Amino acid sequence: MNMSPSNYIYHEEAGLLPRAKGFCCRRFSKTKILGLLCFGALLLFLLTLSSPDLSPKDNYGGKRQLLPNVVGLFGPANKPGRGGKFNTYIQSNIPVHKKTDLRQRLPQCLIIGVKKAGTGAMVQYLKLHPDIVIADKELNFFDYERNFKLGFDYYKTLMPPSYEGQITMEKTSNYFHNKDTEWRVYSMNTSMKMILLVREPIARAVSDYLQRKQKDKSNKELTPSFEELIIRQKNGKINEGYPGIRPSFYYKHMVRWLKYFPLTQIHIVDGDNLVRNPYEEVHAVEKFLGLPHLITPDRFVFSDKKGFYCMSIDGVNGTRQEQCLSKGKGRKHPDVDKRVMEMLTDLFKPLNEQFYNLIGRKFNW
Ligand code: A3P
Repeated sequence: MNMSPSNYIYHEEAGLLPRAKGFCCRRFSKTKILGLLCFGALLLFLLTLSSPDLSPKDNYGGKRQLLPNVVGLFGPANKPGRGGKFNTYIQSNIPVHKKTDLRQRLPQCLIIGVKKAGTGAMVQYLKLHPDIVIADKELNFFDYERNFKLGFDYYKTLMPPSYEGQITMEKTSNYFHNKDTEWRVYSMNTSMKMILLVREPIARAVSDYLQRKQKDKSNKELTPSFEELIIRQKNGKINEGYPGIRPSFYYKHMVRWLKYFPLTQIHIVDGDNLVRNPYEEVHAVEKFLGLPHLITPDRFVFSDKKGFYCMSIDGVNGTRQEQCLSKGKGRKHPDVDKRVMEMLTDLFKPLNEQFYNLIGRKFNW
């Protein structure tokens, strides 16, 4: 028995009593406590490494996401959207921004196009994120010289107010295919993040044609057919100058943008997949922007009536209501003449391949 004085205390009435030890000291030795502390520190370190939103590339408050992501790893697995393949996802209910310093700011991210690839849908989806504010309409600031000449201070006055930590965005779907736009964006912000949606180029051109027809102030019935506009009367060849087809030359436009910006600053969204699985594409955008994943799969509800996904948005008294895109989005496409279709396929095939090589990613067009 160890009778050393440090193990005993003297009590006036009871005499020599064993010294009381703390709970942990009674059950664990110093070495064990040290071991547990080391294990805890190692676990925290490993969780930090496994958190995708804490990569050094994140520009927007990555550190603040540590706790929510760690918690989220143990949270419930969420249901994927229709056709979705996410079994689990990291969820945080805490936005990045704090409600401080509300003011107008220049955008840090632009949706540059391409028109008719689902840019409108992407804007509506991203508005569901509390850390994103988006200008209400297309501003055509970088593609119209007269707008650009009004200066960045003027451009800023067109932005919605944002809190510190929120990302301000603007979408003009004509930016991608109009020349000079890229260097103008670069002159404002060399680290601008850009989102580009692409879609199978022929379907995109047909969609563009339908929109032009809709906007045609004269008798719509007299608007020439897609085939009449896309094929030159005089030589029977594709009219590559037709404005409705121009944005579909993705390779040509992308080369211009990559002269100014690295590919890492341009996030490419598969517009066809956006129709089938919006959650997957929106999730990827959140990641690109370094934001917590706050747009959950239950926000996307397939509408049999519309034939597209609609959004489930917050209604009154905690209810949710369905909100679809306007009638102009999701038009029925006419059948294109088989011969014209073949000619267009031949035209686009090599250009699409060049585009894939340029961006290091393939699509099934
Ligand atoms: P179509 O009308 O040819 O089907 P943009 O907003 O860039 O003009 O793109 C319009 C396209 O967005 C539509 O083209 C449609 O295919 C696509 N889209 C993607 N998600 C949609 C949705 N939830 N509702 C309607 N259209 C959607």
